[in-house]
Amino acid sequence: MTSPRPKFNIAPSILSADFARLGDEVKNVIAAGADWIHFDVMDNHYVPNLTFGPMICQALKPHAKTPAGVAVPIDVHLMISPVDALAASFADAGADYISFHPDASAHVHRSIQAIKSKGVKAGLVFNPAEPLDVLEWTIDEIDLILIMSVNPGFGGQSFIDSALRKVELARKWIERSGKDIRLEVDGGIKPDNIRQVADAGADTFVAGSAIFGKPDYKAVIDQMRVALA
Ligand code: DX5
Ligand code: ZN
Repeated sequence: MTSPRPKFNIAPSILSADFARLGDEVKNVIAAGADWIHFDVMDNHYVPNLTFGPMICQALKPHAKTPAGVAVPIDVHLMISPVDALAASFADAGADYISFHPDASAHVHRSIQAIKSKGVKAGLVFNPAEPLDVLEWTIDEIDLILIMSVNPGFGGQSFIDSALRKVELARKWIERSGKDIRLEVDGGIKPDNIRQVADAGADTFVAGSAIFGKPDYKAVIDQMRVALA
């Protein structure tokens, strides 16, 4: 059975925002049309970079709403190992989705349970060289699949084309499951390739440098929507 395709979500990654003005950046990118806020957590251990923790997430939570006051989901992408303790802290800090890399957790199912027990949606993230095999035993438990189209750790890298084939495979997994699972892609997404990523089966698109690297966030998000239309 084929599940109906959900609407497209654009999830700007604040990794490329101005860290000295994060609250304003979140507000501005939401006013420009962001559907989710993508929050990249790096630990200088699982990935060779270091970003922000639950305290920053908590500080940004009140800013994650539309000008009309509607809450915008915070999509936490954990690039950390181990996973469980900090995942719980991010749940307490207001995360709406928490995703982790299965190869960063000794007990993937337990990490999913740790997230879901907090009432937060759980996701699994797959690096460019990582197979989707773990889905066989986890797909019934998760709300989001995140396919990396760059190696995790840095913004501004080039899109790795083999990710498209993995997105197609992940879409098949979702259709077979019959579940309402978001299929997100992260890394190197721009107005000129977003359509290809959607055609492969993705419904949620992370974009960091493409949006925050330009002065007019709305112009970029609008271009992405036109490409998706
Ligand atoms: C990379 C991060 C991405 C990053 C994407 O590890 O997970 O979310 O911000 O940045 P761009 O869109 O610049 O490739
Ligand atoms: Zn990310």
